[in-house]
Amino acid sequence: MTPIQYVLREQRLIWFFIGIAIPVILFNLIIPSSPPDAFHSAELTHVPRRVTLELHGSGRVPLSLKAKNLRVVVTGGAGFVGSHLVDRLLERGDSVIVVDNFFTGQKENLVHHFQNPRFELIRHDVVEPILLEVDQIYHLACPASPVHYKFNPVKTIISFFNVFYKTNVMGTLNMLGLAKRVGARFLLTSTSEVYGDPLQHPQAESYWGNVNPIGVRSCYDEGKRTAETLSMDYHRGLNLEVRIARIFNTYGPRMCLDDGRVVSNFVAQALRKEPLTVYGDGKQTRSFQYVSDLVEGLMRLMEGEHVGPFNLGNPGEFTMLELAKVVQETIDPNAKIEFRPNTEDDPHKRKPDISKAKDLLGWEPKVALREGLPRMVSDFRQRLFGDEKESVGTNVSLA
Ligand SMILES: NC(=O)c1ccc[n+]([C@@H]2O[C@H](COP(=O)([O-])OP(=O)(O)OC[C@H]3O[C@@H](n4cnc5c(N)ncnc54)[C@H](O)[C@@H]3O)[C@@H](O)[C@H]2O)c1
Repeated sequence: MTPIQYVLREQRLIWFFIGIAIPVILFNLIIPSSPPDAFHSAELTHVPRRVTLELHGSGRVPLSLKAKNLRVVVTGGAGFVGSHLVDRLLERGDSVIVVDNFFTGQKENLVHHFQNPRFELIRHDVVEPILLEVDQIYHLACPASPVHYKFNPVKTIISFFNVFYKTNVMGTLNMLGLAKRVGARFLLTSTSEVYGDPLQHPQAESYWGNVNPIGVRSCYDEGKRTAETLSMDYHRGLNLEVRIARIFNTYGPRMCLDDGRVVSNFVAQALRKEPLTVYGDGKQTRSFQYVSDLVEGLMRLMEGEHVGPFNLGNPGEFTMLELAKVVQETIDPNAKIEFRPNTEDDPHKRKPDISKAKDLLGWEPKVALREGLPRMVSDFRQRLFGDEKESVGTNVSLA
């Protein structure tokens, strides 16, 4: 007898179907029926966020889910801007890894996070590769203060190259490589220095700049221009998610005390009762952005859908003499002004056109110089003289 004949003769098929039917009927009787759509949507809303993230497999995080619980690397996070960015990311609920070689940054800027389990600090030079599993990379590592790239003895020429060009080129390459490898989104903090001594005023992102390739500031300017080029190549050629910010002069608490930037110079000098040194005739202009505005702009850029580059700066324009006057008003009306010969390649004018950031990121600075400066002064005073710290919170007037 064949197996088929056996099944038919013994009526096994009937018993088989009865066996399936009984549990199906019981199941429908016991569990109240719900409309198929309602059941389906209820199931979806219970998928935890992380599971949804992992379903995408490629490591790319869908934009709509970027608001929370990300693993973020901030290179240069022990520095002035980086440490404020870390504050905001942790406050938002992200896990943050700071990678810094402490060339200009300081542990003190981050010490308030040392007990936070979502925070890690790694001493590492970005010139060397590193492997970390992350969703986003904010690449800030680069000493940004002019004293480190201006006139210096010959012996420092090699270290110029090492520090600036290598950090901007090798460091950026390493971080782009990491982003590619783990499928992270990458944000480069470039600079308004890519416009050099601009022939267009104010500077829009479409302006290609007027940079002296062989000047004393070139290692910084050209280093950042190369970093932008590399980022765009990775974006176009390897489909990497890239964001580029061109940062204009920024000030606020935790700036290096003697880093040679004009705001920190004036504030430190006025507090120490030294004359404010103005280079040239003092008619060159700059725009000054408070650090909380910048951090807000960087985060909006990272979360948004546009590559950039975007100018992030405060379009309020001040001559150096006007800035000195605001510092006198804020700290010491009797502070003297001392004129010195101007440095080579010092840009005559600097003012961002921020229409693009306004339109596409919905961002614009909120903190005026006269509002932000006292916060910085309070921080400087405390660090210089150990005075009681007044509130130096950076989250003023955030958008
Ligand atoms: N602050 C500004 O006004 C301004 C303007 C334009 C652009 N930017 C850019 O913003 C970023 C942050 O600037 P900032 O003002 O906070 O400067 P900062 O010097 O305070 O911070 C830079 C940080 O990078 C770290 N770093 C430097 N080289 C490194 C390396 N090779 N490996 C690891 N870490 C390294 C430093 O130790 C420091 O903590 C920089 O990329 C800078 O070019 C700043």
